[in-house]
Amino acid sequence: MEDKNEHLRLAKVVKETHADLRKQFRTCEGDFNKVWEAHCSNEGLLSQYADAMHHLAVDHWTKHPETRIEWCRDIAVDYFLHSGLERALQKDARRQFHKEHGTAYVNHGSRDGQCEAKNRSDVTKGHSMKCGINEQRTVGSAFEGPIRLLDVGSCFNPFLEFEEFLAVGIDISPAKSSVHRCDFLLLELSEPLQVAPDTLNTYMSNLREPIERIPRQSFNVVVFSLLLEYFPAPYQRWICCQKAHDLLSLNGLLLIITPDSHKQHRNAPMMKSWKTAIESMGFSRWKYVKQQHIHCMAFRKIPKQETGECSLLNEITPDMLYIPQDFNTNIDNEPDWFGSAYDEESFRRALCELPVLNIEDEEEETELS
Ligand SMILES: C[S@@+](CC[C@H](N)C(=O)[O-])C[C@H]1O[C@@H](n2cnc3c(N)ncnc32)[C@H](O)[C@@H]1O
Repeated sequence: MEDKNEHLRLAKVVKETHADLRKQFRTCEGDFNKVWEAHCSNEGLLSQYADAMHHLAVDHWTKHPETRIEWCRDIAVDYFLHSGLERALQKDARRQFHKEHGTAYVNHGSRDGQCEAKNRSDVTKGHSMKCGINEQRTVGSAFEGPIRLLDVGSCFNPFLEFEEFLAVGIDISPAKSSVHRCDFLLLELSEPLQVAPDTLNTYMSNLREPIERIPRQSFNVVVFSLLLEYFPAPYQRWICCQKAHDLLSLNGLLLIITPDSHKQHRNAPMMKSWKTAIESMGFSRWKYVKQQHIHCMAFRKIPKQETGECSLLNEITPDMLYIPQDFNTNIDNEPDWFGSAYDEESFRRALCELPVLNIEDEEEETELS
């Protein structure tokens, strides 16, 4: 009982902080920067939030190993250290082939890289000619060294314990000393460092406080775990995704976890809208899983010219990165993820369940949503 009360108390701190910030944004008559500045300089509130979030995550949510953090880890390890990246490049090659030959590409999201064309003769031709990795894109040697991972809104640096990663955690209000203090919205980006991976690793291991600037293309993975819904405005989410794109090396992964306790189809239009907006920045969605309380997404940074049609880009705006709370600042509208209807047992069960939807490419989502 005591445990449950403490859980409710911590959840209330988190929910109230989010709801208050949204309310202030709504009533500030356009002076968004002032509201954000005031929020970031309210050290008492931020450290109370950091403490609550840290304890929720490590004492109340994560007693089972299957967490959002594990999902991110598994995806990154599969992608960089096993065959994930290779499969993604093969998929690009197949898609390119079908584009050039005017055949319809149909992918069933299978992990073994099988593909189909509508015309059987094209299938044979396609497979024999191009279904392997095209030469320019050959991964070549295996990935070497640790995977450089930037965890934005890290709070308590959950990726630090994994040896596969060189994890850099940043937060406006770190709950642990290993997390660097940094407002990602204000982070400046400098020219990429043209150095060997080892030197880049050393550079990233010795970042000095406060972090104001990071070279572009420095990371293999950028993680936004429960970060984007912290922001009261869609344009802030937009800035973050664009920055993530700049900070990633080519083929790097942006991993996004966002809470949603509803059934998979309830917010399908929202997820589709996010996908369109994020892909317009030069990403291609690699994975999408809807678990009971969260959406988990992995976007791959692709060469700029592979992004959508220019005419389509004009219709894309930051507002496409909306969340339900944008339309209602009521505290009760904050996700159940943080909320009172949510106990540890249901959380465990949720994360033990098999994903209800696991998508590896956009064609399959079109069919399902
Ligand atoms: C809901 S918590 C998520 C913590 C952790 N990532 C997790 O999954 O448990 C959101 C975190 O984002 C941080 N944050 C919000 N805005 C930020 C910004 N502009 N730059 C860096 N961190 C930010 C908050 O301080 C908070 O620690």
